Amino acid sequence: MNRTQIDKTSNLAGHKVKLNGWVQTTRRMGKMVFIDLRDISGIVQVVFLPDNKELVEQAKKIRPEFVVEIVGQVNERPAKLVNNKLATGRIEIQAEELTILAESKTPPFEIVATEKEQENEELRYKYRYLDLRRSKNQQMLIKRSRFIKNIRDFLHQENFTEIDTPILAKSTPEGARDYLVPSRVYPGKFYALPQSPQQYKQMLMVAGLEKYFQIAPCFRDEDSRADRAPDQFYQLDLEMSFVEQEDILRLTEKIFTEAIKSIFPHKKINNTPWPRLTYKEVMEKYGSDKPDLRKDKNDKDELAFCFIVDWPLFEAGKENGHLAPAHHMFTAPKSSDIPLLDKDPHKVLSWQHDLVLNGFEVGGGSLRITEPILQEKIFELVGISQAEAKSQFGHMLEAFEYGVPPHGGIAPGLDRILMVLLNESNVREVVAFPKTGDNREPMTESPSEVSADQLKDLHIKLDKK
Ligand code: AMO
Repeated sequence: MNRTQIDKTSNLAGHKVKLNGWVQTTRRMGKMVFIDLRDISGIVQVVFLPDNKELVEQAKKIRPEFVVEIVGQVNERPAKLVNNKLATGRIEIQAEELTILAESKTPPFEIVATEKEQENEELRYKYRYLDLRRSKNQQMLIKRSRFIKNIRDFLHQENFTEIDTPILAKSTPEGARDYLVPSRVYPGKFYALPQSPQQYKQMLMVAGLEKYFQIAPCFRDEDSRADRAPDQFYQLDLEMSFVEQEDILRLTEKIFTEAIKSIFPHKKINNTPWPRLTYKEVMEKYGSDKPDLRKDKNDKDELAFCFIVDWPLFEAGKENGHLAPAHHMFTAPKSSDIPLLDKDPHKVLSWQHDLVLNGFEVGGGSLRITEPILQEKIFELVGISQAEAKSQFGHMLEAFEYGVPPHGGIAPGLDRILMVLLNESNVREVVAFPKTGDNREPMTESPSEVSADQLKDLHIKLDKK
């Protein structure tokens, strides 16, 4: 007999079914036993009637979170016993056979999906595999998966090529600290986990791929914030050749409008096309470079996107006596402002564009510098010496000597967008196995010490002071 998913049972009154799942709750009423059985698709009530004494005795052994197989008859419930709160509330399963597939200890917290979990994060993350049994969390992962699939399919249709770039890579500065991985083969040398695939995607444009995207894991050693992971997150990273800024913005709007319509159909996008606002304008009007343009901030289904353009190329002030890029060092200044680079660099505007949603910066990108001389000039202004530029970015400068197309792109942060779409207040809640606020993963206990042999292989001596 084939297994039936619980959500399909509603329409199978009069049929015999085989169900598999976890026991959510058990109740005894007189000589009967009731259980609520749960699988990925839903919950259904199973009843063990007193006439089958042996089966009832077996059912009495069941505890919450046991994994069971039940064969039984789907029966319509009498009208007064219909449970409208349950999708399968019009029927129940009259058990005929029961097999306990796996027992369960008493879980450290109740799995019953409550509106808001009461347990602390440490406990939930230590037992994340139990926390993820809650339907809210399962739905989160399912929505995330479908959302990303929708985006992926859309970009394939638009003739983008999905390309994986290296995880063991070289440092690409995006303003955070790098996670470093020591090389065994080259003592004293390190790979850096990419803060973004920025340099690789630009190299792909030089390579002539024209339209690239990747659901890219990015690694940044940063302090945790509600909207910022302290370890890794995913970007929808994309880059295109022979485009203007508006092409990138229009495409971004199309990708997310489409994905939201399909996967979050109850959400309302309040302003289309999404407003393109200048940095100056939003700073003057809202005092913020990520304005919240919702009409009703209490409406959890309202989405207000906008793009911020015409950014200054450099942040205000100086860092260690040098200018700091507002976005990153590969962002092109507006050509008309290039003469100001030496005279009045803070007046120089750039081709940066940020994507903002409900007051969160959910994406950033730009048109890129393609002239080696201009790129060298920017390195110099942000305090990277010629020697450093050559060793860090020599490959880019060299590549640009071999026929570089004009190009640009954007990288929306998928976790941050999903946080807003799923009405979560913390980005940690939209990933399967998040770190705690202080950057640990309590389930596997990472980070962890490694063996002396591993350290020796890697030529590492610890200074534990
Ligand atoms: P940027 O550094 O602006 O641009 O990053 C793009 C987007 O990534 C998301 N993001 C994060 N999400 C969660 N946790 C974090 N720690 C975190 N850091 C960033 C944000 C942000 O808007 N290479 C460029 C893109 C480009 O120029 O094409 C880049 O990475 O939503």
